[in-house]
Amino acid sequence: MSETLTADSGMDALTHAVEAYVATAQTDLTDCLAIKAAQMVFENLVDSYHGSAEARKNIHVAQNLAGMAFSNALLGIVHSLAHKVGVTYGVTHGRCNAIMLPYVIEYNSVVTEKRFADIARALGLNGATNKQLTNSLVEAIKILNGQLGIPLSYQAAGVDEKIFLDTLDTMAEAACGDPCTLFNPRKTEFENMKKVLRCCYYGTDVNF
Ligand SMILES: [Fe+2]
Repeated sequence: MSETLTADSGMDALTHAVEAYVATAQTDLTDCLAIKAAQMVFENLVDSYHGSAEARKNIHVAQNLAGMAFSNALLGIVHSLAHKVGVTYGVTHGRCNAIMLPYVIEYNSVVTEKRFADIARALGLNGATNKQLTNSLVEAIKILNGQLGIPLSYQAAGVDEKIFLDTLDTMAEAACGDPCTLFNPRKTEFENMKKVLRCCYYGTDVNF
């Protein structure tokens, strides 16, 4: 696997773990799988990206754990959007997820901050409150993206602004109809889906 494929598919696994942990169909059984997978991605993905055979083996296991988690708990709107924008924007599935995950965590934290704090604690991140821990998780994912050469917005990834604006309504509407939207912890309709996608394109904070 190339460095890029290693980075993108590894961040896809992390997104599976994080989305499964906060999905409406989560259970104690899927929580264990999701948390372990997230820990293993954070511990191994950078080394895997740089070619360590041991780290690649560990990421292989993490991918499987995350797969079992999300096959049962389902996913959320990171995947709803990635399923629709990937082809239109010419960005791989994993890279779409990597770019959007921090913004969607901010968006979903309005209803499920405690669950993101659980993940942050399991990763050993700092924070005295659920809000601080959630912010630490968002920052840690952005730092991980940076270490993997993944940009922090679609604009930074080189997606043409005209394509973004011309397809914004269509993409948001299609994402609303994606099955993953039903399992997102925060009920999401067209206007908010558009606003989330706008933040992911321009790299602006989610404050709604
Ligand atoms: Fe995925």
